Order: sequence, then structure tokens, then C-alpha cells
Amino acid sequence: MDFAKIGTYIEGLYQKGKLTQKQYTEATELKEFGAVVDDDVARMLQVLITLTRPRKILEIGTSIGFSTVSMAKVIKQYGGTIVTIEMDEKVAEQAAKNFAREGVKEQIELKIGEARAVTAGMSEEFDLIFQDVGDKKLYGEMLEDYLRLLKPGGLLVAEDTLFPVFDFDPECGYLNSMCEPLDAFNKKIADCPQFESTLLPIGDGFTVAVKK
Ligand SMILES: C[S@@+](CC[C@H](N)C(=O)[O-])C[C@H]1O[C@@H](n2cnc3c(N)ncnc32)[C@H](O)[C@@H]1O
Repeated sequence: MDFAKIGTYIEGLYQKGKLTQKQYTEATELKEFGAVVDDDVARMLQVLITLTRPRKILEIGTSIGFSTVSMAKVIKQYGGTIVTIEMDEKVAEQAAKNFAREGVKEQIELKIGEARAVTAGMSEEFDLIFQDVGDKKLYGEMLEDYLRLLKPGGLLVAEDTLFPVFDFDPECGYLNSMCEPLDAFNKKIADCPQFESTLLPIGDGFTVAVKK
């Protein structure tokens, strides 16, 4: 199978009339920020949200907010809310501007801080958690927090989970350093009896797990 050809075909079908990653990043003044999800991941989040209609979403890792806005455009239609956490103040400030520009700031509560510290103080429950934090060690380390914060039947979705099988340039220490913690997370969630889960080859790997 030619995956590049498949990707081009799918994007040709679905990009019309949608806010794309390219449009979003070009409209963003700040040019240095953590990588945002691909368009296929943004659409997958929108499909999952349309299917499950979560009232409360928690996102870990906002960056400039492309995934947040993609989700907010769907929840706005029925009245859901998103709490999103970002520790880089400059990037968070840009995300807040983007939420206003895209007409979804009322749907989003942006918390500036370190993810573990912020979630430790949370007692509310969520219907969907999107894990896309830059520090990949947190994926596995926060699994217990996610079990505590998710309602039964709630969804945990995580991006970048196929990094362990990507052929990164051996010179790129940053990307290579993410593979081991993501492999540990993948094994942990696959073996976790409290989740029914799978890993889909969408974006850079997209794990979907339902809390039983
Ligand atoms: C991959 S980006 C998020 C992209 C975003 N979800 C999107 O698709 O639009 C990851 C973000 O996590 C943030 N981050 C890294 N470690 C963090 C931590 N411990 N707590 C909170 N945010 C963190 C980084 O600053 C970065 O902006």
C-alpha cells in the first residue's frame, strides 16, 4: 500500500470547508510552538465527539490550540466545555488569542501550569481526555490520574503513540527520546484491565481507550 497516496486521496476528500492545520498555523502570529495535530487527527477527534457528545473534555497540551479549536467547534453545537492545560505561558497567550479569533473562547477554559500539578487539584470528572502533552513520560505516569478523572464509559485518546516504530533520524535526540516512554505507555494501556483500547494508524498514532 502507498500510504502517501492514501493520505493525499483522503485529504482531497475532506479538507474542503474545514479549518485546516495550515490555515490555522498561518493565521497564528507566534511561529515557535509545540507541533499541532495533523488534519486527520483533528477530524478523528471531531467524529468521536459527534459520536459520544462529551459534555466535559480535558486536553493535556494546548500549544497554540489547533486541536482545542477543532474540538470546540463541535461541542459548541450542543453546549459542551473544554479544559485545556499548557505550561508555556507565551504559547498559552497565543492560544487564547486564537480561541477568540475562531469564535470558541466561551467553550474553553485555559489553565496555565504543569499538567500533573494542575490535574492533582482537580476533583471533577470528564467524559473525554485528550493526551497530547510534549513530555511523553507523562502519558504513562498520568494513567492513574486519567482513571480517576474519567467517568465510566469515558474516552481517553492519545496522539503520537506510533513514535516507537517510526524511523527517526538517529541524530534527532529529542524525537528518539520520546519512543521509550511512549512504548511503555502503549504496553501499559494495552494491558490495563480498566480500559478497552486500540491504537489506530492515524496521524502519528492515535490511541482510543474506553474506561470500563
Ligand atoms: C504537541 S503540543 C500540543 C498540540 C495541541 N494539542 C494541538 O494539536 O493543537 C504539546 C504541548 O505540551 C506542552 N507541555 C509539555 N510538557 C508539559 C507539561 N508537563 N505540562 C503542561 N504542558 C506541557 C508543550 O509546551 C506543548 O505546547
